[in-house]
Amino acid sequence: MVGLIETERLRMPTTRQWLLNAHPRGRPVRLDDFRLVTADIPSPGDGQMLLATRYLGFDPAQKGWMENIADYVAPMAMGDVMRGSAISEVVASRHPDFMPGDWVVGTTGWIEHHVADGSGIEKISTTLPPTAMLSILGITGLTAWCGLFKRGCPLPGDTVLVSGAAGATGSVVGQLARIAGARVVGIAGGAEKCRWLVEDAGFDAAIDYRAGSLAEQIAAQCPDGADVVFDNVGGRILDAMLGHLANGARAVICGGISRNVNGGLPIGPTNYFNLVFRRASMAGFIVLDWANEFPAIRARLEGLVRDGRLTYREDIQHGFENAPATLMRLFTGQNRGKQLLKL
Ligand SMILES: NC(=O)c1ccc[n+]([C@@H]2O[C@H](COP(=O)([O-])OP(=O)(O)OC[C@H]3O[C@@H](n4cnc5c(N)ncnc54)[C@H](OP(=O)(O)O)[C@@H]3O)[C@@H](O)[C@H]2O)c1
Repeated sequence: MVGLIETERLRMPTTRQWLLNAHPRGRPVRLDDFRLVTADIPSPGDGQMLLATRYLGFDPAQKGWMENIADYVAPMAMGDVMRGSAISEVVASRHPDFMPGDWVVGTTGWIEHHVADGSGIEKISTTLPPTAMLSILGITGLTAWCGLFKRGCPLPGDTVLVSGAAGATGSVVGQLARIAGARVVGIAGGAEKCRWLVEDAGFDAAIDYRAGSLAEQIAAQCPDGADVVFDNVGGRILDAMLGHLANGARAVICGGISRNVNGGLPIGPTNYFNLVFRRASMAGFIVLDWANEFPAIRARLEGLVRDGRLTYREDIQHGFENAPATLMRLFTGQNRGKQLLKL
């Protein structure tokens, strides 16, 4: 084992970590919200292993974690290693269940090397590329599945309206809704993303929220209203969607990436009373609540990908030093699919 650690130390004598340097409440994330520090590569003790991070996965929720506005995860303190999901390779092990060369996934954070005892770490065994465990088979795909089928419950012939539709989660939501027999309309920023939604992801129609009146475009694409609204954005986009509900509609609140105002929370909808007129419901969810179902849902998602019925995109940036800038891509719409960073 010592030999393997020495090999890693020769390849990279010290290891780097990104620490939280500020809580970005009510404002966009900035590069100086993070601080890069260097440390010696640690050695694993009995029952432990040394992980070398190979990919980081990025999620808009990381901003909420930095702000400490979410109470479903532990608060983050200044100086904490930035929290985030990652795929790592076991480079040395004194743990009975993990061997050097194993690839694992877990919320190990923005850290190049990490000593772990196995808790919260899952060995990767998939027929898809390992990065799928951060994208289609990770929280992203699981969120799309759980939010859509446990909250949205689309029926064949329903119209499903998705915001953040060209993103990692939204694009999977729309495709799953089509597989379930619904007609799917996506809302995304820019003509190129809208073209991708229709031509590659198989959406029935796409709306560019940056071009023209959003309300008029939704009315044109959903003349009978939307039976399921799946919102990743919040603010004025949610508001416009709530203005076009069908009777008995289900509005699913998945995320609110437009929030950088109001102390970190998105502005509230003014169209909420349409829930009354349309006898509709609106519900949020946290995907982690269905963790016991993840293995079964992953198997379904993997099968759909292998059968060619479900596609997913990964946007892979490079270089550990670029982690903060890579997170910021999510908030400027630069990412094309699941945002990852290869170390
Ligand atoms: N509830 C849960 O358990 C759960 C779990 C995981 C993720 N989520 C949520 O799911 C959502 C999607 O996450 P993701 O990882 O798949 O990210 P993503 O959609 O791949 O990336 C974010 C996208 O959001 C759009 N966006 C950014 N700022 C915006 C703004 N101000 N107004 C409108 N659109 C904006 C951009 O696309 P455009 O170019 O189209 O604007 C950007 O590409 C997030 O809100 C996340 O927090 C929820």
